[in-house]
Amino acid sequence: MQVYLNGAYLDASEAHISPDDRGFLFADGLYEALLAYHGRILLGEPHAARMRAGLTALQIDTSPADRLLELGERLVALNQLTDRPALIYAQVTRGSAPRRHRFPPAGTPPTCYLFAKPFASQPAELFASGCAAITVPDTRGSRCDIKTIGLLANVLANEAAHAAGALEALFVRDGVIIEGSHSNVMAVIRGELVTYPSCNYILTGVTRNCVLDLARTMGIPVREGPIFASEVYAADELFLTGTTLEIMPIAHLDGRPIGAGRPGPVATRLFAAYRQLSQ
Ligand SMILES: Cc1ncc(COP(=O)(O)O)c(C=O)c1O
Repeated sequence: MQVYLNGAYLDASEAHISPDDRGFLFADGLYEALLAYHGRILLGEPHAARMRAGLTALQIDTSPADRLLELGERLVALNQLTDRPALIYAQVTRGSAPRRHRFPPAGTPPTCYLFAKPFASQPAELFASGCAAITVPDTRGSRCDIKTIGLLANVLANEAAHAAGALEALFVRDGVIIEGSHSNVMAVIRGELVTYPSCNYILTGVTRNCVLDLARTMGIPVREGPIFASEVYAADELFLTGTTLEIMPIAHLDGRPIGAGRPGPVATRLFAAYRQLSQ
């Protein structure tokens, strides 16, 4: 596998990162995960814009965001992934320097690493049946809008889901379901598509925004507001959105059925429209 590291394309076995890297020492960096179909990145501009905004917030050089799409598509081609769906992972850290909390000297180059590999969607049967999810308290901080590599709370939440036989864990903050460990959450309640508003407590998903646009185009009423954990079992539908989960219906939450306990019509229509985008 060919990867990209700090200006060079090289074999994955030759890509080495210093133990002094601030990503390793402090989780001082961010990442993006993107999909490419037929060699072209899906929804590339919003991914690059989110990376640029995150790097700006972290005061890291934004030039990796300017090159994200070019580097990603080049890697897809180099790895001969243009004939199948590919996942591109891109990570930027504040670079390598002797450990101390404050920023390293000006001019310390960021570390920029990308890899691409074949992407497999979740199994068709799971989209057809809907998945299981659990709720967990949100133990994260207040800058969840940055796609930080500091994902400890997300990792623990997702592992709890896995241990419970579920696909995803939904974070609950102040009684409201705000997002998943690696996805956004949408509900259909009294004919409206409801999802948590874009703010510092969630990562505003590229898929989320795309799905909201599709819904508006299809004439589905959209409301950015709370999904109360106490009321969620009365929702007609609940589903996840994300680059890797695409649009995944939730059939059971904490062991209780949502709606009829299978994917609903809104998620099904939106998923069909979303899949069209990758054709
Ligand atoms: C915490 C969190 N929320 C939401 C998402 C969905 O974002 P996107 O649709 O841009 O993949 C992700 C994706 O990894 C995530 O980690």
